[in-house]
Amino acid sequence: MTTRVIKNIAELTTNDPTLGTGATGRLLDAAMVIDDEVVLWVGPNAHAPAADEMIDAGNSAVIPGFVDSHTHLVFAGERSDEFEARMSGTTYDGGGIVRTVEATRAASIDELRGATLRRFRELRSGGVTTVEIKSGYALDVDGESRLIDVATEFSDEVTFLGAHVVPPEYVSDREGYVDLVGGPMMAACAPKSKWADVFCERGGFDVDESREILSGAKSAGLGLRVHGNQLGASGGVALAVEMDAASVDHCSFLSDEDIEQLTASATVATLLPGADFSTRANYSSARRLSDRGALIALATDCNPGTSYVTSMAFVLAIAVRDMRMDFEEALWSATRGGAIALRRDDIGHLSVGARADVVILDAPRAVHLAYRPGASLVRQVIVPPGGHALTGWFSRGHGRVSDV
Ligand code: NIG
Ligand code: FE
Repeated sequence: MTTRVIKNIAELTTNDPTLGTGATGRLLDAAMVIDDEVVLWVGPNAHAPAADEMIDAGNSAVIPGFVDSHTHLVFAGERSDEFEARMSGTTYDGGGIVRTVEATRAASIDELRGATLRRFRELRSGGVTTVEIKSGYALDVDGESRLIDVATEFSDEVTFLGAHVVPPEYVSDREGYVDLVGGPMMAACAPKSKWADVFCERGGFDVDESREILSGAKSAGLGLRVHGNQLGASGGVALAVEMDAASVDHCSFLSDEDIEQLTASATVATLLPGADFSTRANYSSARRLSDRGALIALATDCNPGTSYVTSMAFVLAIAVRDMRMDFEEALWSATRGGAIALRRDDIGHLSVGARADVVILDAPRAVHLAYRPGASLVRQVIVPPGGHALTGWFSRGHGRVSDV
């Protein structure tokens, strides 16, 4: 096992309040030691112990790797025409999802793998070290199972989203589709997934349909996630809390009662500013959530319809500029918040013993991620060698991304 000391860190965000100041446990003029798996030591630069190798951060900022807890990374095709139409005034209603379903069903597994790899590389080069990936663009048993297989080549955080929309062949038999999702599709996908998600929304599934599917998923041993309150007061937030989902995502329409329920629960409100940006929707009420003490995660929602976004820095910039989150609060939500939304203790922070997911920036302070929108400020991404064939291949010395 090789040890590495990272020296000359101008600003180190640990997200461990016992290690530094504030909720983000920030240290100035710091150093840290890692091995191939975990963080071994964090402290002042002047006291840095010796290690087998040295990485000179060159007075840059260092942060925990981003935890992108909500993506739809496996799909074929794109829908830029819908984006253009929305910028000229049309409204998103989820109707375009079936276009991606058609393209995805027609793609070979190699095409899907290649497209996913390109998006994964964009995420990774922007500092994402953990990514959740949903199925949901095949909507038949073999197709959903195939998307789960591709997702598994990139991540352990794989989510079965058979309940994305009712596919065209079932429009006159919704009940039949709900039975298919909870029956044969769940049987094929649950053993290969960690999570199940439901698009609980007008145009997706109502609260009763969503509850039925999520109950089946829970019995199959999956953790729960919900797409809720994106296009209106869908009841998704209350359902997520009722079922102890790990997170409810979007949360663009929130009543005071929704916020109270979230605050009293272990369900994280995952905000997806890229989707609000690309659908010209109102941003979620981050301040109302935060001021009342609800847990917030920030994620990209990378998908071809509402948010073809792979940059967590872009998400941070919107969160700070337009949603009025403090930068430190937004950075915490994009790292530790994402980890909590995945119910993970080992990532999203740099305490001793945490996974050695470390991002070295090309900037003296992390706030440059929001202060310099559009700039590419990730110098080096350090992730322990993983068991994922494609990410392992990719990480061995391509471009700016490295894997120690
Ligand atoms: O998270 N709205 C539901 N699911 C995705 C969008 C899917 C699509 O339009 O292709 C979302 O926004
Ligand atoms: Fe989504």
